[in-house]
Amino acid sequence: MSDALAAPSRTEKTEESGAEARATAAAAIMAKTAVEQADYAMRNWTDPEPGPVRLGSARHLRLFCDMLLQTHNPYKPAVIDWPRLDPDALRRVTSLPIWDIAVQTEGRASVRVQAFADTVADPLLRSALEMDGAEEARHKVVLSKLVEAYGIALAPEPEYLPPTDPEWGWLATGYSECIDSFFAFGLFAAARKSGYFPAELVETFEPVIQEEGRHILFFVNWAAWYRRSLPWWRRPLYLLKVARVWLFLIRERIGIARGIEADGSAKDANFPMNMNNSAGLGTTLTAREMIDLCLSENERRMAGYDPRLARPETVPRLARLARRLLR
Ligand SMILES: [Fe+2]
Ligand SMILES: [Fe+2]
Repeated sequence: MSDALAAPSRTEKTEESGAEARATAAAAIMAKTAVEQADYAMRNWTDPEPGPVRLGSARHLRLFCDMLLQTHNPYKPAVIDWPRLDPDALRRVTSLPIWDIAVQTEGRASVRVQAFADTVADPLLRSALEMDGAEEARHKVVLSKLVEAYGIALAPEPEYLPPTDPEWGWLATGYSECIDSFFAFGLFAAARKSGYFPAELVETFEPVIQEEGRHILFFVNWAAWYRRSLPWWRRPLYLLKVARVWLFLIRERIGIARGIEADGSAKDANFPMNMNNSAGLGTTLTAREMIDLCLSENERRMAGYDPRLARPETVPRLARLARRLLR
C-alpha cells in the first residue's frame, strides 16, 4: 500500500475536519432545538379532545393528570451548565437568605408528595403524583448543584420523614406552593428586569419556576376534583382540615419572616441579616407594583394551559385585596 493511500492528504484532512465541524454544529443545533421544544411543551398544553369538562368529573381527573404527565420537561440537573458569575453577582447569589429553606422545602415536598401518592389507588392519578414528587426531588438536586457550583454553605439538613397523615402532608405542600410560587413568579421577574442576577443564571433556573407553576395548576385542579368527589358527609371534616392547613401555613410564614420556623426546625442562618438587602432583588418597585407584577406573571405562566383547567385563585384574590388596602 502506497503512502498516498495510507495517509489522508491535506485536502482530505481539511474536508474531514470541515465535515466534523459541520456535524458538531448540526448536533448542537439539534440539541438546542430539542431543549427549545421541551421548554415550549412544558408551557403549552391543550387536550385535543374537544368539549366542556365538568370539575370533579372523571374527565376532569384525566385532564389535569394528562396535563402534568405530558408537560414534563426531561432536563437533567447533572448536565446543567452553571454560568460563571463575576464577584458582585456571586456575592448577591451567595448572600440570598433562601438556600437552606429552599433545599429543605424541596426535600420535604418530595417525601410528602410521594407519601400521598402511595395512598392513591387510581393508576393515572398515582403516576401523576409520582411525577410531581420526582420533580420535587429533582428541584432539590438542581438546588444542590447550584449551591455546590457557587460555594454556598448550607446548614445541616434534617431527616425528611413521611407525614403521619399523608393527605395532610399533600395539602400542606400544595397550598404552600400556591402561596410561595405566586410571590416567586413576581420576584423572579423583578430580578430578571433589574439585572440583579445575570441573564444566563435566570435562564438556567427558569424551568424550575415554570415547573412550580405546573404543580400548583395540578394541585388546584386536584383540590377542585377531590372536594367534589367526596361524599357529602365527609366534606365538612375535609374542609376543616384545609382550614387547619391554611392556619399552619400562615403561622409558618410569620415564623419565617421572624427568622424562626413554625415547627422549630433549622432557620436559614442568613435570613434576617440579608432579608433587607435582597428582598427587593435590586428593584425599586413599590409593594403595589410588586403585587401587580406577581399577578401578571401568574397569568402569563398559566396562559399556555388548557382553558378548561381551573386556575389558582385564592392567593391572587388575597393579593388583589391587599393591593386595594395599600392604596
Ligand atoms: Fe419544587
Ligand atoms: Fe412543586
